[in-house]
Amino acid sequence: MDGNGRWAEGRGRDRGAGHSSGINPVRMVIEESVRHGIDALTLFAFSSENWSRPASEVAGLMDLFCESLDAELPSLQSNGVRLRFIGELSVLAAPLRARIAVASAATADNRRLQLQVALSYGGRQDILTAARALAARCERGELRSAAAQEADFASGLALAGLPDPDLFIRTGGEQRVSNFLLWNLAYAELYFTETLWPDFSAADFEIALQHYAGRQRRFGKTGAQVAL
Ligand code: FPP
Repeated sequence: MDGNGRWAEGRGRDRGAGHSSGINPVRMVIEESVRHGIDALTLFAFSSENWSRPASEVAGLMDLFCESLDAELPSLQSNGVRLRFIGELSVLAAPLRARIAVASAATADNRRLQLQVALSYGGRQDILTAARALAARCERGELRSAAAQEADFASGLALAGLPDPDLFIRTGGEQRVSNFLLWNLAYAELYFTETLWPDFSAADFEIALQHYAGRQRRFGKTGAQVAL
């Protein structure tokens, strides 16, 4: 969800106004995902590197996450959304952690859409955590390292139990993954758009889905093989 800062600066407003205006497209992609029958959606809201932004911007974002959780919980419930958070949640302030716990517990039985919000998340850290979990299993004698399979490793990742993402969307014009879901994105279709996140509309989301639908996913095979 990139481009909030530039959206605000282009209007002579402070960057926080861009983040606040990023809430509407968040609501839209959740509702459109439910409408399209998409099983899982993961939003990159705050990276482990975003802590190095100015303290006032970080504080404003944390307040916004708290306010949004309070405001959006009823509509997440009515849409059947299961909300979870991934990332280094222990470093978040107590009021936000408390809201995360409440929202996660309240929506735990919902099944229409699995929504993950990545907060203080880094893909390399995620991989390191999974590597440590696998190493610990080997040290306990539960698994021989030479016998470890991809699934043994993936069970220690933040998105364990969820399918790999089919489609990755980045707004704001930059064409990079920026430490997001590094393991899980191995076969994701990548879609980049110049549109700044606060301007990202239902029509833009539809265009991204159409791009995805038009791609042939080969998973290493030839085009002729997958056409069979
Ligand atoms: C990146 O844009 C965006 C962020 C660091 C924050 C994203 C947060 C929201 C959209 C708020 C709502 C989210 C939830 C899940 C409640 P940027 O600031 O790097 O933009 P720039 O590249 O133009 O500076």
